[in-house]
Amino acid sequence: MSVAVVAIAALGLTACATGTDTDSPATDSETTAAEETTAAEGGAGGEVGVFTWWADGSEKEGLDALVEVFNEKFPNDTFVNLAVAGGAGTNAKAKLASDLENGNPPDSFQGHAGAELMDYIVKDQILPVNDVIDALGGSSVFPQDLLDRITVEGNIYSVPSNIHRANVVWANPSVLEAAGVTETPADIDAWIADMEKVKASGVETPITIGGTWTQVHLFETILIADLGPDDYAGLFDGSTAWDSDGVKTAVEHFETILGYANNASDGDDWVAPTDAVIDGTAAYNVMGDWAVAQFNSRDQVDGEDYIYFPVPGTDGIFDFLADSFTLPKGAPNEAGAKDWLMTAGSAEGQKAFNLKKGSIPARIDVPADDFPAYQQSAMESFKQDTIASSIAHGAAVPLAWLDDISTATAKFYSSKDGDTYVADLVAAAQKALG
Ligand code: BGC
Repeated sequence: MSVAVVAIAALGLTACATGTDTDSPATDSETTAAEETTAAEGGAGGEVGVFTWWADGSEKEGLDALVEVFNEKFPNDTFVNLAVAGGAGTNAKAKLASDLENGNPPDSFQGHAGAELMDYIVKDQILPVNDVIDALGGSSVFPQDLLDRITVEGNIYSVPSNIHRANVVWANPSVLEAAGVTETPADIDAWIADMEKVKASGVETPITIGGTWTQVHLFETILIADLGPDDYAGLFDGSTAWDSDGVKTAVEHFETILGYANNASDGDDWVAPTDAVIDGTAAYNVMGDWAVAQFNSRDQVDGEDYIYFPVPGTDGIFDFLADSFTLPKGAPNEAGAKDWLMTAGSAEGQKAFNLKKGSIPARIDVPADDFPAYQQSAMESFKQDTIASSIAHGAAVPLAWLDDISTATAKFYSSKDGDTYVADLVAAAQKALG
């Protein structure tokens, strides 16, 4: 049993569950018999339209790396890039929803494993892909816990391509040194004290923020810090009240931290706030680990030009999300779509894609030492840490609930009225949970 498998078992995730899966994992060089039956030699042919929000910069580099593997594996197929720009799918998801409703689906689209995927399943907009998952090696190559998040009544509805971590602070060590900040803060209060030091050293905006989705992202990490993983998980099944003391503390912390941040407009994306840390006009940004791809693409050296640590108070917790690819009902080229899914789920595809994307492979059989230091540390954390589900990125709540949380957050961002924010969050949870 590999180290990864042992550690995943320790996490309570079952890496070798029973089922109809093939016996051994596929490797870069091997193709299983089932893979061959799912994907025709050279591919089905025709155009394969794939919808994502990886339209620019390092995200597009990740997509391009995956497309390169697709082109090699399936030369008969022609990849058509249907990406719609906007971090976290802010614009893409609206376009996708109307395309699906109008019976105009792409051949495959990016969807987050977990609650978000359930939206498409409930609306009967995507088809099971058990045959593809089985051909890829099933639960011998994908963690069972991850498969559970994409399974309804025995049917598996997407192919996971990666795992991202959301609760990461990216920081500029020179800015911290100049401010006399020498230690990693243990909790949110200590972190706020450090922001004060950074501000006193002459840095106007110690922390950067973008538009609404990045604010929801920051807030969810503060919720995890202030509630702890169990009470945080309880927010999504009704066992933790959205007006509990922990949530109220998180709202206060959120407001204080926003007081140390730049003023953002709703449409502002994640790259500029990351660049501000690189350029030294800010000390900190909280962002998912797609940010490491931006540091890399700007030739920043890990440990010298930038450092990273879990959002204070969330050490030992991995705030999780996973991108996965679907097979929409009525896909114009269903066989070509399966070629794409076989690529996104292959060991070779996951290595090429994740190296550029900053995430770690969803598969457990891609060797860790093929990856740089940050991703190796994320792999270790994913094995050991308690897993929390991201609100902003589809793991914890369905799209409609996320919309309501986002509206409440945008309102709070302008008003800074904490009582109303809490009341809006309570109302959103009541609407979603009934
Ligand atoms: C996606 C990531 C993406 C990020 C920023 C998240 O929702 O899962 O793949 O890099 O949004 O666009």
